[in-house]
Amino acid sequence: MPAETAARRISRKLAGLTPGIPASDGAGVRLTRIIGSPQLNMLDPLLLLDCFESDDPDDYIAGFPSHPHRGFETVTYLLEGRMRHKDNAGHEGVIETGGVQWMTAGRGIVHSEMPEQAQGLLRGFQLWINLPAAEKMSAPGYQEFTASEIPIEQREDGGVVRVIAGRTDGGVSGAARRPSTDPLYLDVELPAGTVFGQGLPQTHAAVLFVIDGELRIGDEARAVPRRHLGILGPGDRVVVSAGDAAVRFLLIAGRRLNEPVARHGPFVMNTQAEIIQAFDDYRSNRF
Ligand code: CO
Repeated sequence: MPAETAARRISRKLAGLTPGIPASDGAGVRLTRIIGSPQLNMLDPLLLLDCFESDDPDDYIAGFPSHPHRGFETVTYLLEGRMRHKDNAGHEGVIETGGVQWMTAGRGIVHSEMPEQAQGLLRGFQLWINLPAAEKMSAPGYQEFTASEIPIEQREDGGVVRVIAGRTDGGVSGAARRPSTDPLYLDVELPAGTVFGQGLPQTHAAVLFVIDGELRIGDEARAVPRRHLGILGPGDRVVVSAGDAAVRFLLIAGRRLNEPVARHGPFVMNTQAEIIQAFDDYRSNRF
């Protein structure tokens, strides 16, 4: 038998667990910083993951007024609420419940991200994914999807997988495509007592964030509790299960770039000189 077909599959184990830290960003939006904090600076190519969830307008109404980005991508996924996006190149749109905006900042955009609601629940995530050196100064671009444009895998066990990016083992391909980091971004709902498996290339960093319920990884004794991030160790697949109650979680993975990272605020480049250049270009209106 050829070696390839006999290759063992290695299930990833839980390598770390964090609830993130309370943080404030923009003009005073209260959020939980899960990746991009002093405790967990980054997981190449995942630079930042913020979770915001509040029904108190004081926590979110100030929004994220005009600010720049250069050198990476931002992925906004709204579970509940409405956010208006507007940039200096004339792009404007509203992300609504269940919608995704995948923004490639490239060489630079200046934009605002403001709640389009004065009350009610705002709940969602923003993920930053790095770009390789060769694409950091590419033209900015957007991939935007409403809830109904996101492919869904309906599983026989009653599970539901929203495929924002990547491809499930069940053969459903996601809405967004980014060849360099080959991201996987799944929103998975599992009924009580069910099991879910997904191939994850060895080349990819991978994390799970539990939205509701608690999740078991393989045969690990400790579960990943609600609103915690589980960092997955090496392997080429993951197998998770719901216990006595349903669970909802994000599974996010991306191919490591293995390049030097110089970051300061909204700029993520390869060298300090490129960061200084980014500040200079921003101040001189060259974005
Ligand atoms: Co932004």
